[in-house]
Amino acid sequence: MADERVPALEVRGINKYYGGVHALSDVSFRAYAGEIVGLVGDNGAGKSTLIKVISGAHEPDTGEIYVDGQRHHWRSPLEAIEAGIETLYQDSGLAPDLTIGSNVFLGREKMRRGLLGRLGFVDQRAMEREALEDLKKVGISVPLSKRTVAELSGGQRQAVAIGRAISWARKVILLDEPTNNLGARQAIEVLDVMRSAREQGLAVIFISHTLPHVLEVTDRIVVMRLGRVVRDAPTSGFTAENLLATITGLDELRPPPTPTA
Ligand SMILES: Nc1ncnc2c1ncn2[C@@H]1O[C@H](COP(=O)(O)OP(=O)(O)O)[C@@H](O)[C@H]1O
Ligand SMILES: [Mg+2]
Repeated sequence: MADERVPALEVRGINKYYGGVHALSDVSFRAYAGEIVGLVGDNGAGKSTLIKVISGAHEPDTGEIYVDGQRHHWRSPLEAIEAGIETLYQDSGLAPDLTIGSNVFLGREKMRRGLLGRLGFVDQRAMEREALEDLKKVGISVPLSKRTVAELSGGQRQAVAIGRAISWARKVILLDEPTNNLGARQAIEVLDVMRSAREQGLAVIFISHTLPHVLEVTDRIVVMRLGRVVRDAPTSGFTAENLLATITGLDELRPPPTPTA
């Protein structure tokens, strides 16, 4: 049965080379509003490169990107943000010495100026208040005693980074290993935040090596291997065993041919 809905995000035929490395090889996939798509694969499979291409951080060599059915050519990450795509990059950092509110608005001061600015400068206290409310809306509460990111634990920092992305996203959110370095309980909280993003109608792309989390929270799983999409199927069709076999390529191993004399 053909799916008649217009995907929130679609990429078609993406190729990306880094010198001689073919990091993405004819990659196509779709993500719909109100859906969490797991993007999995071994280290070096091309997941982060794909995220960077979709977010406008890197330019693909060939291929097409569509948001709500409309084709885009990003010239900068800001253009992807303006189209409604927010990204939490792998190893993305917050600025430790800035306040939590400033981090939520980092890089957006200009956009907010019309709303919050007075005579061209940003109203710091209104921004702090609004930032904490934005985080609360997506299910993240930061202890009021903490002001700067440096005072937060690793898990709290990651929660702020995710909350920042989700509170700004209008269509698509790209999360590259958001539960890395989190404790078990904090990781579960991040899964809940992803579910609330799905309920808000966002298309969520979730990259993770923690397969039980991927199996638990996603609606569909896209498996990449050596720069290619090797499987794209509803999560209900995967088990922990066959997902791992698809990631590693063990599913394609055939018994060696019987030698003929
Ligand atoms: N900036 C870069 N310059 C050169 N090679 C890169 C760069 N980024 C990634 N690669 C290469 O592209 C391939 C895919 O990497 P990556 O997208 O980071 O994979 P993953 O996120 O799935 O671990 C790897 O072979 C990696 O070494
Ligand atoms: Mg990566």
